[in-house]
Amino acid sequence: MTEPFYVTTPIYYVNARPHLGHAYTTIAADIAKRFHTMVTDETFFLTGTDEHGDKIMRAARKEGLSPRAYVDKISSLFRQLWPQLNISNDYFIRTTDPGHIAVVEKVLQKIYDQGDIYFSEYEGKYCFGCERFYTEKELVDGRCPDHQTEPELIKESNYFFKMSKYQQWWTDYINRHPDVIRPERYRNEVLSFLREPLEDLCISRPKSRIKWGITLPFDQDYVTYVWFDALINYISALGYPDGELFKKFWPVAQHIVAKDILKPHGIYWPIMLKAAGIPIYRHLNVHGYWNVDDSKMSKSLGNVVEPLQLKNVYGLDAFRYFLARDMVFGLDASFNEEALVKRINSDLANDLGNLFSRVLTMAHKYFGSIVPAIDSSVEQELSLGLSREAAQTIDEFSRHMESFAFHKALKAVWRFINRLNKYIDVTAPWVLAKSKSSRKQLEVVIYNLLEGLRVISGLIYPVMPDTAARMQQHLGLDPETDFYRLEKLRAWKSLLPGTKLPKTVALFPRVEMPKMDGQPQAGQDQAGLDPPLLPEIDIEQFAAVDLRVATVIKAEPIPRAKKLLKLEIDMGEGRPRTIVSGIAASHRPEDLVGRQVIVVANLKPAKLMGVLSEGMLLAAGDGKQTAIVMLDKKVEPGTKVN
Ligand code: ME8
Ligand code: MG
Repeated sequence: MTEPFYVTTPIYYVNARPHLGHAYTTIAADIAKRFHTMVTDETFFLTGTDEHGDKIMRAARKEGLSPRAYVDKISSLFRQLWPQLNISNDYFIRTTDPGHIAVVEKVLQKIYDQGDIYFSEYEGKYCFGCERFYTEKELVDGRCPDHQTEPELIKESNYFFKMSKYQQWWTDYINRHPDVIRPERYRNEVLSFLREPLEDLCISRPKSRIKWGITLPFDQDYVTYVWFDALINYISALGYPDGELFKKFWPVAQHIVAKDILKPHGIYWPIMLKAAGIPIYRHLNVHGYWNVDDSKMSKSLGNVVEPLQLKNVYGLDAFRYFLARDMVFGLDASFNEEALVKRINSDLANDLGNLFSRVLTMAHKYFGSIVPAIDSSVEQELSLGLSREAAQTIDEFSRHMESFAFHKALKAVWRFINRLNKYIDVTAPWVLAKSKSSRKQLEVVIYNLLEGLRVISGLIYPVMPDTAARMQQHLGLDPETDFYRLEKLRAWKSLLPGTKLPKTVALFPRVEMPKMDGQPQAGQDQAGLDPPLLPEIDIEQFAAVDLRVATVIKAEPIPRAKKLLKLEIDMGEGRPRTIVSGIAASHRPEDLVGRQVIVVANLKPAKLMGVLSEGMLLAAGDGKQTAIVMLDKKVEPGTKVN
């Protein structure tokens, strides 16, 4: 009997739209869950959204929405994204769910009743971004290390959770169960926190300051601290304390988080569980951060990566593969599109894609699209230990998947893929095919290769479920079955001779490097447009471009710049703007004066041939045939264009 498996992601704050980082953790959890379906029948995968607290209230206010309307809106962005990334979560929890709130109240009351929560006055430096007090030692030059802002001095009476009481217990526990936090570097980080005296945790916020939260069951004037609320989602979703799911899955709980929230998960949470008399999670799996071109991903740098955009350009499985393969679980990784394109071309188009098409092409050509029989008299001499290597690959893959070392698991699979590519070179089926006398040999070689592909299709299933199914289908098998079960993959020679192979396809087309302007490019034709259509944007992204009507008041050539004209335009701002435009070959300056044009008004100013251009004219084409976008009737300069 194998054990059940329970995996969680952090519940994401609804103060930002989902980005690459959220997608990574959620895909990692999905990979772990799918891997466990290869082994056991009982898995549970939880994700959701964290919706209370000051940070959320402020974000709602900024959008002019009530907290309730705002959290509904952003939470649904997450909920709708996951199916598009093939995320197989079994439940989606929201901290505003009444069921969750009831469990938070229950746990608070339990800890309060047994005397681990006390009331006291506190003065301290509070970071509103982190929603917590900081000690002087934790601040960097007096500022929050995360938000680089100065915390505010706040003095108030609050409820405190006696974490210090459990400090020794937790230290001992980790030492007795060293892999409870993994990889090792994060266990060491937690142990080093624990070497300093642990301060008690302030777990309340007065309603005079924050109302958007769960009221303390023992004091109506306070709401609970967001982290005390959020962490409990991992048990409330399972129906703590009496639910069947809780009984089955809590004992095997595994969390996945990034290093940013190590402290709440590595210290607060186990101590909360202990104080409430609940067993500790089995593993906390901590990964590093995705940076973008080596800088931190942030709204202000404008380098936030949208998962759907990448999916649309490169395909979902290629995107999932890249994330799993290029991040060493536990360390930071750098995202850039060139690395993604390289990965796709080398591992997917070349190694796997070529193997797949070489083998199937030969099977179609030499055996009329039928899986050949295998003759045991020549099997031994031609199998060259492939079945043993398949078994070793499966073992190595499983070992690494168990410990969330996805990159290592994939490396093992790719070693086997390359082993099969070499097997083709060594056995040279095209030579065997030349003579009738080597027909049996040819059968064994092609059969082994098809069987190797069957094993590979199962092994890639957790990371690339769609591609796995496609491979199955092209091997004449039923992708709707649990073909990926490890016991099936271990059963070498399960492909039935005589099985019909459907017409084959390319698994992964090669893709082009992104262009210099940073726009991703798909390899395939996109409806014949040249240049191809850019990835879809939503209305908010479009709304970020401020288009305005302007009247041209002056136009003149720029010395030594044959293609450019310098325009002075009136956009109703009380002063004219200068705009430089590449329309000198198609338009005479005197024809433009008095005409109304459309301008990208919030484009960052840029110098062209020494002239500062404060915006951009909309025009079609470039060069001699350029046509300027003009209006069919007069409107006020400065009018917005939608
Ligand atoms: O912390 N690289 O929510 P959050 C990798 N609500 N992963 C990243 C990432 C990046 N650049 N950026 C974000 C919260 N993540 C709390 C959690 S849990 C009880 C409450 C992922 O929206 C990563 O999983 O700030 C990280 O831990 C999480 O998003 C933080 O999400
Ligand atoms: Mg965060």
